[in-house]
Amino acid sequence: MNKIKIAPSILSADFSNLASDIVKVEKAGADILHIDVMDGHFVNNITFGPALIKSIRNKSSLPFDVHLMINPADKYIDDFIAAGADTVTVHIELQENISNTISKIKSHGKRAGLAINPDTSIDKILPYKEIIDQVIIMSVYPGFAGQSFIEQTYDRIRTLKTILNNSSIDIEVDGGVNAKNSTGCVQAGCNILVAGSSVFSSNDYKKNIDDIRKNM
Ligand code: DX5
Ligand code: ZN
Repeated sequence: MNKIKIAPSILSADFSNLASDIVKVEKAGADILHIDVMDGHFVNNITFGPALIKSIRNKSSLPFDVHLMINPADKYIDDFIAAGADTVTVHIELQENISNTISKIKSHGKRAGLAINPDTSIDKILPYKEIIDQVIIMSVYPGFAGQSFIEQTYDRIRTLKTILNNSSIDIEVDGGVNAKNSTGCVQAGCNILVAGSSVFSSNDYKKNIDDIRKNM
């Protein structure tokens, strides 16, 4: 099996020391940096935009996994890529032309993802199967870090795995992931684990990441 990747979400980092937290989490064994962009409209919270991402780009050599919880998204794609995104994920719940947005991301040579909320049918991913690089299965309702993992997510990961039928698309689970549920997520079929609170809430990031990875 390919190595399971851990993607700490900087939403739970110390914003007043963001650069040093990013360096620290990379040294602690993170594989990817997950970056949550929220607009106060698609979700009920506001985080940051391309300028912040650009300012941290040279602090880390990790791939930047930008999770856009914004509506509209399409008109901002170029800005997020210019800022340094390696993967850009938009939500399937958007009313925009998703195929066009994915093409736009891919035209820059970047990876494109679709995120799906807990109450959206997994089948909705199917039409995009040939053009995406990853799916983010939300295991909480998007908007805030520190929520509890929704147990039905395991079944949804299994359903997605079946639908994707051995393709090389990454399956990333996002929300409430910790050392107690990470093994179940991987057994169900995901290969990237986003973790915010469980990595950043106590000081030893290496131990926190190792704990999430144990039993794999
Ligand atoms: C939720 C975000 C998640 C979240 C992860 O809207 O997409 O990435 O910040 O944080 P935890 O792991 O604390 O749920
Ligand atoms: Zn996220």
